[in-house]
Amino acid sequence: MKPTYNTTLSYDENYRAGPEFEGALPDLVALNKGLPEVKFLGRTLNSTLGVPAGPLLNSAYIQLYADLGFDLLTYKTVRTKAYPCHPFPNVRPVETWPGWYLMGSGDKPTLITRSEEQTALAELSITNSFGMPSQPPEIWRDDVSRAKVGLHPGQMLVVSVVGTAQPGGSLEELAADYALAAAWAKEAGAEAIEANLSCPNVCSGEGSLFQSPEAVRLISIALKNRLGSTPFLLKLGFLNQLALVDEIVRVAAESGASGLAAINTIPAKVRDVQQHQALPGEGRLVSGICGAGIKEAGLEMLSRLVGARNKLLLTPAEFTLIGVGGVMTGLEVFDYLKLGADGVQSGTGAMWNPWLARDFKELAKIG
Ligand SMILES: Cc1cc2nc3c(=O)[nH]c(=O)nc-3n(C[C@H](O)[C@H](O)[C@H](O)COP(=O)(O)O)c2cc1C
Repeated sequence: MKPTYNTTLSYDENYRAGPEFEGALPDLVALNKGLPEVKFLGRTLNSTLGVPAGPLLNSAYIQLYADLGFDLLTYKTVRTKAYPCHPFPNVRPVETWPGWYLMGSGDKPTLITRSEEQTALAELSITNSFGMPSQPPEIWRDDVSRAKVGLHPGQMLVVSVVGTAQPGGSLEELAADYALAAAWAKEAGAEAIEANLSCPNVCSGEGSLFQSPEAVRLISIALKNRLGSTPFLLKLGFLNQLALVDEIVRVAAESGASGLAAINTIPAKVRDVQQHQALPGEGRLVSGICGAGIKEAGLEMLSRLVGARNKLLLTPAEFTLIGVGGVMTGLEVFDYLKLGADGVQSGTGAMWNPWLARDFKELAKIG
């Protein structure tokens, strides 16, 4: 199966060319008919299945996945200033094994790349490392508005934002930069904002903010002040300490966040079969892993988040949880829903299996 993002081309080439897709698009009216109505962040949607921040680089990608029947569409993370992408290549398949992400006690585990042809969809894991590139604001703000116009009834546009850390800058300044990007995204048509606090492919600190209750508090307050009634979510990575999960959920809810999306990619050292660093460039031995090999971690994290929400006696309408990680087929969406996810998103799965939303909806109707 070929992905909609061409992994043999650079990020810029993919951005310009748009998604690669061959095949018939589903009849959305027929596909959505008979699905139970779902409420999400105050809106009624066809479903709460979507694509997380990343695979949808711009409005052309959003349009394709809206046409394919994904209803919760997240625009890839943008910044308040133009930012370059890490060098090519940015995506490589890797080999994982059950529980790999728990190994290494303090150090990161090492994974080895494998060829795409060797890998069946059900076991496809990749490393991706882009470094959260951003078009200049004047480009992405217009493009977000275009993306919004292309959505079908019962679909929602979320825009992912990140602040850009300045050398010697304070956490308050970083929070203000997140909030400015969020305000621009809202103006451009975003119906909800997602603040990315967890990209492992940067060396400047934005990637580990989700582990700091103080950062979660300051960024949430800055976003709330700027966004008013527009909902916003925080994107977390995998957390293995139960007490910290409880603390982060409490602080996020108290500081005005509408909910959380988890998990982001899990960092690992990635080498090729000759033991060379797989992705070129300084600081890129470690990169984020996603796809089938993080599903176990994603499900574990979601159940911890649901547990933390229950302890606070919050309802899904008061604090919304999106499960992400390793959903490769329509059937696997139910694994997250059964654990209490309000929404489910598939990144790697949706790239290699663009019919995932159709398959999920057909299964959902069978019951
Ligand atoms: C190609 C690609 C690019 C990504 N870029 C971003 C990004 O810009 N911002 C972000 O928050 N997460 C990004 N992610 C992480 C995804 O949103 C998601 O958390 C992760 O891939 C786990 O989901 P999956 O196993 O379904 O792929 C990216 C993932 C992929 C595959």
